[in-house]
Amino acid sequence: MHAKALLLASIPAATAAETILGAYIFSRHGDRTTKAYVPTKLTALGAEQVYLSGSWYRSRYIDEKSSTRINGISSDLADLTELSVTAPVDNVLQGSAGNFLQGLYPPAGSVNSQKLANGTTIEAPLSGYQYIPVNTAAAGSTTQAESSAWLQGNSGCPAAVNSSQAYFQSKEYLELLASTNEFYQKLLPVYESTFPSENATFKNAYSIFDYVHVSTIHNASIPSSNLLTPSTLQTLSDLANIHEFGLAYNASSPIRAVVGSVLASHIVSTLNSSISSPSSSQKLNIQFGPYGTFTSFFGLSQLPAVSQDFTAIVDYASSMTFELFTTSSSSSPSEDEVFVRFLFANGTASESNPAKAYPLFGQDKTELPWTTFVSEMNKIALEGGSKEWCDACGETTGQCAAYFPEGSASVSEDKKGGMSNAVAGVIGAMVTLGVVLGLQALILGVGGLRLTKRRKQSTSEVMEVPAAKGTSVSDTSSIQKV
Ligand SMILES: *[C@@H]1O[C@H](CO)[C@@H](O)[C@H](O)[C@H]1NC(C)=O
Ligand SMILES: *[C@@H]1O[C@H](CO)[C@@H](O)[C@H](O)[C@H]1NC(C)=O
Ligand SMILES: *[C@@H]1O[C@H](CO)[C@@H](O)[C@H](O)[C@H]1NC(C)=O
Ligand SMILES: *[C@@H]1O[C@H](CO)[C@@H](O)[C@H](O)[C@H]1NC(C)=O
Ligand SMILES: *[C@@H]1O[C@H](CO)[C@@H](O)[C@H](O)[C@H]1NC(C)=O
Ligand SMILES: *[C@@H]1O[C@H](CO)[C@@H](O)[C@H](O)[C@H]1NC(C)=O
Repeated sequence: MHAKALLLASIPAATAAETILGAYIFSRHGDRTTKAYVPTKLTALGAEQVYLSGSWYRSRYIDEKSSTRINGISSDLADLTELSVTAPVDNVLQGSAGNFLQGLYPPAGSVNSQKLANGTTIEAPLSGYQYIPVNTAAAGSTTQAESSAWLQGNSGCPAAVNSSQAYFQSKEYLELLASTNEFYQKLLPVYESTFPSENATFKNAYSIFDYVHVSTIHNASIPSSNLLTPSTLQTLSDLANIHEFGLAYNASSPIRAVVGSVLASHIVSTLNSSISSPSSSQKLNIQFGPYGTFTSFFGLSQLPAVSQDFTAIVDYASSMTFELFTTSSSSSPSEDEVFVRFLFANGTASESNPAKAYPLFGQDKTELPWTTFVSEMNKIALEGGSKEWCDACGETTGQCAAYFPEGSASVSEDKKGGMSNAVAGVIGAMVTLGVVLGLQALILGVGGLRLTKRRKQSTSEVMEVPAAKGTSVSDTSSIQKV
């Protein structure tokens, strides 16, 4: 960590005068099996990691004794109207969310029991286990449209796919591809069974890192493990980080980070409802998603300027949190009495690794006035599935078709860089097709990931294209790249 980061990264101790109004948590999944062998599964270790992280968040936001408890939130029994928990259709992310929730609201024993009409008291099974539903982003439902566009629709933005693809033509990429060739070839004895010589290159930096990293955790007899010195492991990790950051963010092509933009939009609208309708809004919003979303958001919110560490892949079970609080004692504080604090825990949040506050958007404070937060977030935000999103993504089909009614094209003033919608639509479609084909080649090339699974997941018309984009934005839930 750089000096500046150290100075600023204090463990936030809420002052007595602070009231937490709500929080938005975005978490990565726990330890899992390698993506090289599908289906990828959450491991017992991974379940433990997210469970412990959930427990830490319980101690911060839920526990009755916590000084940072979310105002009025239910402590023992989960009140489903106060919570919103969502994860994409993915074993690893869904399983992680479920385990996290067990830490957040553990079995409540006799508290989770009810008295029947005949006088008998019944306790819920498994010591009063609390079943908190984990929503999937349901395609086609209007109320979920916003979240579906960014959870599943992680994918679905052709312009972002294109931008990510451009990384493979960049000077940075091509130079590393050449200069690291010997490094990857020397390690062949370790991973030859999965990555033959032609695939052992920087092009597969993430897949190879993932395979080796998972092996070092789970495989006591890695072939030629003597080659895996600490410095070699570090290099594998560094190269994977560079590769994934390249796909997730580029300052001169912000659309590449569209998943971070859509996340930003979702955060603002969710927290805003806690201010504008505190009684009816959900107090705690929990989302599970892939590391690529962290990376894109970090890039957009200028965290790499705080520390280069923010360009790296976050550890398993990492979480970032946006905490809405007020210093006012009024039950309906005005907007200028409300602040947002950004917290991040790299890996499992716990007493020894608590989430720490970092300054977003190049600010010098970790606590941003709500109005500043909103104006900064809005500079990077794109509401998934909105007209702006469709325009920026060059998407005119599926969910976006409504904005581009047939026949309107030739007369529409709504041009994209001078192109009519009809022309843009055709180009968009061609780009999309090209991208899909290109990505299929890429996916098949990269670590032998299979497409079958994700086709199944294409539950709505919008999802056809998405399938592709997720892929390129590095870590994509839906193709197991989580
Ligand atoms: C009360 O109702 C429950 C559920 O129908 C039943 O299992 C239980 O045996 C009943 N108890 C008595 C005392 O009738
Ligand atoms: C970032 O975008 C610029 C401009 O499009 C390009 O020149 C550069 O190569 C890109 N860098 C990466 C790493 O993709
Ligand atoms: C684990 O080790 C065995 C050798 O005991 C090897 O055959 C296998 O390929 C290794 N698996 C991974 C994922 O490294
Ligand atoms: C917050 O919600 C209110 C009420 O719905 C709305 O008028 C306002 O524009 C929203 N603000 C932001 C920043 O989204
Ligand atoms: C998180 O930890 C990983 C190593 O485990 C490191 O590479 C990365 O830079 C860390 N990220 C941050 C933001 O501290
Ligand atoms: C290796 O790369 C080739 C293309 O160069 C591809 O056809 C093949 O499927 C890849 N194999 C694996 C295991 O990734």
